[in-house]
Amino acid sequence: MKLAHFSDVHVTHFPLSGKPALKRLAAVASYTLAGRGRHFAGSDQRIGKLLEDVDAQGVDHALCTGDLTGVSTEAEFERVAELFGPRLQQPARYTVIPGNHDRYVKGAQGLFERHFAALSEGGQFPFVKHLGPQVSVVAIDVARPTNLVDSSGLCGEKQRAALEGLLTDRSLKGRFVILALHYGLLRSEGQRDSRPHGLRDDLELMALIDRDDVTLDLVLHGHMHRPYVVKTKRRTIINAGSATDLHVRQGCGYHVYEIEPASGRVKIERRAWSAGPARYEAVDSPLNRELSTRWE
Ligand SMILES: [Fe+2]
Repeated sequence: MKLAHFSDVHVTHFPLSGKPALKRLAAVASYTLAGRGRHFAGSDQRIGKLLEDVDAQGVDHALCTGDLTGVSTEAEFERVAELFGPRLQQPARYTVIPGNHDRYVKGAQGLFERHFAALSEGGQFPFVKHLGPQVSVVAIDVARPTNLVDSSGLCGEKQRAALEGLLTDRSLKGRFVILALHYGLLRSEGQRDSRPHGLRDDLELMALIDRDDVTLDLVLHGHMHRPYVVKTKRRTIINAGSATDLHVRQGCGYHVYEIEPASGRVKIERRAWSAGPARYEAVDSPLNRELSTRWE
């Protein structure tokens, strides 16, 4: 089974084009002073090429783990929806979940669903989607609007209880199960993320996924723009990083996973943006490896 995984593509317009909100004013500073505008300059072109490249890889399915936009304006959502085009109506080929930049302010409520409902099971989280006879994805939405200096996420008690129900359900036994979310559970060196940037209930979520009565093989996310692989006590986590952020030193890109459901083995191939020919191509990367998702 071949699965493409990309994240944090961030169609980025100048942040004041939407409804006024104090948080969008702060985003102007991030756009101009902190360089967000430069990092995502021309991201529209890269997103178009990325989707073409994903389709050209002959994958069985493609998963996007959120942050389609910069600050959740209607114009940004419309642009990214335009780039997805007919794929927006192809849930058998694509799954998309929201990131914190897609739920940036309260006023953006419903915008993600307006365009991406078909690819996120109607926006009803958590959900299970069977990607093939042996592989399933369980998706949660941990993004929410926050105040000026906070970009933390929250799974929440209710969603965690529903997730527990799904991951311990007998119907998933024997399948290769992927948990998809926007935020990471651990940073690249295995440490917790910071309070204003990470998941508020990371420890609770990690305790849940590490339980031995849970059926789960792989966790996929984004949020941190540099890609990495890390492990909890029992599970393997892969962050694809940003597919379009020009500030990523090793090159922005995405992953194609070859999954062998019976053995639990996963082969990672990284494809990165190459500015010269203006396309994504296979690259030598320390992330390219074959790993076992089964713990001893
Ligand atoms: Fe992001």
